[in-house]
Amino acid sequence: MSFRSDTYNEVLLTLRSGDLVNSAPVGVLYRRGKLYARIYSGSKTYESIKSGVNKCSVCITLDPFLFYYAVLEKDKLRYVFDEYTDYPCIVDCDTCIYGELEVLEEKQYYLWIAIKPERIKFYRRLPRVYHRCDYALIEALIYYTKIPYVEHLREKYIEKIMSCRETIYRSTRSKRYREAIDKILSLIRSYNI
Ligand SMILES: Cc1cc2nc3c(=O)[nH]c(=O)nc-3n(C[C@H](O)[C@H](O)[C@H](O)COP(=O)(O)O)c2cc1C
Repeated sequence: MSFRSDTYNEVLLTLRSGDLVNSAPVGVLYRRGKLYARIYSGSKTYESIKSGVNKCSVCITLDPFLFYYAVLEKDKLRYVFDEYTDYPCIVDCDTCIYGELEVLEEKQYYLWIAIKPERIKFYRRLPRVYHRCDYALIEALIYYTKIPYVEHLREKYIEKIMSCRETIYRSTRSKRYREAIDKILSLIRSYNI
């Protein structure tokens, strides 16, 4: 695995609570065989972990649209169930790590969790190429999801998202990327989040 221990690795954390499956982008640190993350309050992921969910799937992908769907269009995510763990993994992700989730510390605004991998499944072997628009879309999603927590930085973050939009419009003619970044901006404006 290419996880770095000195850098947050952006993944999609998938939790199942009964019949309900939910995924959310999360940054994880890899240290001595385990993955560590902060899960901020106010999300479904936070609530599921607080309610006692202690198994998870860590879906690894470079596809920014899987991140985009996990934040803005969850119904577009499709899942495949692992034959051994019976745990869900997002269809089209490259690799899935199934593991046990433990809450190490409960702070005022977040949970500090550890994930102990139990099984890894590789779904993709074809190498991928880096595109600036992938990076720009994920950066825009990060600012979008942070705005509710840092209202005083709202204007600054909107500017950052505008700059991501510029990168996307410069680096791709793809309608899909352009529509995604425009939706992020229009949601910020219309819902006043
Ligand atoms: C790339 C990326 C990384 C993120 N990292 C984290 C994180 O480490 N911890 C966290 O609590 N939220 C993180 N977020 C924000 C959550 O993914 C976001 O609030 C999401 O909508 C929560 O979904 P949920 O309500 O279904 O759990 C991140 C968002 C993005 C786009």
